[in-house]
Amino acid sequence: MIEILNPAELERARRAGALVGDILQSLRGRSAVGTNLLEIDRWAKAMIEEAGAESCYVDYAPSFGRGPFGHHICTGVNDAVLHGRPRDYWLADGDLLTLDLAVSVDGIAADAAVSFVVGEARPAESLAMIEATERALDAGIAAALPGNRIGDISHAIGSVLSAAGYPINIEFGGHGIGSTMHQDPHVANTGRPGRGYRLRPGLLLALEPWIMADTDELVVDDDGWTLRSATGCRTAHSEHTIAITEGGAEILTLPTRR
Ligand code: MF3
Ligand code: CO
Repeated sequence: MIEILNPAELERARRAGALVGDILQSLRGRSAVGTNLLEIDRWAKAMIEEAGAESCYVDYAPSFGRGPFGHHICTGVNDAVLHGRPRDYWLADGDLLTLDLAVSVDGIAADAAVSFVVGEARPAESLAMIEATERALDAGIAAALPGNRIGDISHAIGSVLSAAGYPINIEFGGHGIGSTMHQDPHVANTGRPGRGYRLRPGLLLALEPWIMADTDELVVDDDGWTLRSATGCRTAHSEHTIAITEGGAEILTLPTRR
């Protein structure tokens, strides 16, 4: 089902998005060498509850997971790229951490992810991968104009990732979002321009380019959730929820404070 939000619902989406952006920014600031992934999960839970919002993850039990997820945020380290289930692990200098968070406010959800390097180390490959997913996300957002099609977004994202030299996995990508976290349409991270659903004001999309350094194959952990690169290589992921408006895309999941 594809949802088109009315102005009152869009206002709730803005509040959900701002909360996701602010929580991710705060968690990014607190994630340091020696931080445990389970601590990050506790901080996320506290901030969601404090704001009176609801976690989209804790009870989430899709067909692909050995659900329910049971945590409030995804924490992927290095080769873990999607659905990283928080576990008892202390971050080390140079770890590439991906945080992915979705919450709903008064029944409307927003979803975003950020990758960054922990500590003082500056591993060049990791920084290049993060930058590539961020540029791909920007390109996808720029293509998200009313009247354009989903394929235009996919093409814009895929062109950046391919030009940067990364293989692209098409099993998981972006998605519609609204009264639930995952909705149609699917937004693959590569595709042909001019194809697919036509974008219209009121449509909410989560765009999420993600890459693995040298493979397009995933393997799943024994926890039934965490998806890792099949080769053990590093990975990166950047995601925003956007609203299609008459004037173009409005990014909903930016932090509101510095
Ligand atoms: N937020 C992820 C996405 O971008 C989904 C995570 S589902 C979880 O689609 F339950 F595993 F957290
Ligand atoms: Co998402």
